[in-house]
Amino acid sequence: MAKVKVAVVGYGVIGQRLADGVEKQEDMKLLGIVDVAPTLSIRALYDSDSPYDVYVVNDSMRGAFEAEGIPIKGNLNDILSEADIVLDATPAGVGAKNKELYLKAKKKAIFQGGEKDEVADVFFHGYANYEKGIGADYLKLTSCNTTGFIRAVDCIDKEVGVERVVVTIIRRSADPGDIHRGVVDLALVEKVPNHQAVDLMKIMPHIDATGALVHVPTTHGHIITLLVTPKKKISVDDALKLFEAHPRIKVVEIEKGFNSNAALFRYARDRGSKRADMYEIALFKETLVLSGNNLFFTISVPQEAVVTPETIDGIRASLKLQTNWKEAVSLTNKYLKME
Ligand SMILES: NC(=O)c1ccc[n+]([C@@H]2O[C@H](COP(=O)([O-])OP(=O)(O)OC[C@H]3O[C@@H](n4cnc5c(N)ncnc54)[C@H](O)[C@@H]3O)[C@@H](O)[C@H]2O)c1
Repeated sequence: MAKVKVAVVGYGVIGQRLADGVEKQEDMKLLGIVDVAPTLSIRALYDSDSPYDVYVVNDSMRGAFEAEGIPIKGNLNDILSEADIVLDATPAGVGAKNKELYLKAKKKAIFQGGEKDEVADVFFHGYANYEKGIGADYLKLTSCNTTGFIRAVDCIDKEVGVERVVVTIIRRSADPGDIHRGVVDLALVEKVPNHQAVDLMKIMPHIDATGALVHVPTTHGHIITLLVTPKKKISVDDALKLFEAHPRIKVVEIEKGFNSNAALFRYARDRGSKRADMYEIALFKETLVLSGNNLFFTISVPQEAVVTPETIDGIRASLKLQTNWKEAVSLTNKYLKME
């Protein structure tokens, strides 16, 4: 079968990882990446062993890249004419403007969490509502936090059903290297409910959810606590078995040194993962307990890479590569080596 052709527009924190993720899928071909400026990420890509083809949005931008010695393959129209689907990973709000171009070129696109829901036909999560995305022209991914904790909630939901979720998010305020939020020293509390709980209810409308959001001055991953009310009682041991069997959840032990967001980042770097990326969320084993019949546990969400698998699931759904969610996520997992 011919490989489907994918363009990545916006080669920043998320775009870099989506491009790598697509490149690993044996049934997909990455046509190249599109950006507006020769950023540090583009410079690093070009200086790497196997740079992807670089495209500019319009030809007036060629000069800035070529002045840096970075060859340009073409412009946005050129890559759109070849692509089956676009992964838009531009800054929040830019994707909505780009959608006009995708509509004109009659190309499907997948947008990231920073865009408003209206940008897409379907608000998408590969495990929780794959079927809704099948054949849809425009999908929007859940945010990094929501992508991460829906994996855990859906895992319990598929086994025993879930009635209610309370989710407290301790949110990293910026990505490593970011300066746009300045040097910070505070824990910023937002009103309840957080948008992530509201988003969970959009993806899983049968569940009632609420929760708090606290921004803290760290960069390596969000820490999230969840109180999950199952429909049928489930023991800690049975829940643990479900989490351990989930390819996108890594159960870790505090006792073995996995005691923080930073420990996970260091672990990923030491195991040789490119950019210290983790596609998995980490679930801290010793935090999994019962409170009455409710499951209570804490996870860490590596915000930079976590949306990659579900975005690739989105390609599978939108282009109808697989019409069964299990087959789709299994293939994504296989090529990302997450089995
Ligand atoms: N950073 C995260 O942790 C994270 C996690 C999940 C989702 N998201 C979402 O992913 C999206 C991208 O975020 P990011 O953090 O990767 O942003 P980023 O700023 O790191 O990268 C955006 C890239 O898009 C480029 N760009 C700007 N305008 C463009 C245009 N018109 N055409 C092509 N490229 C353009 C920029 O030069 C930059 O390289 C946002 O919707 C964000 O909310 C971010």
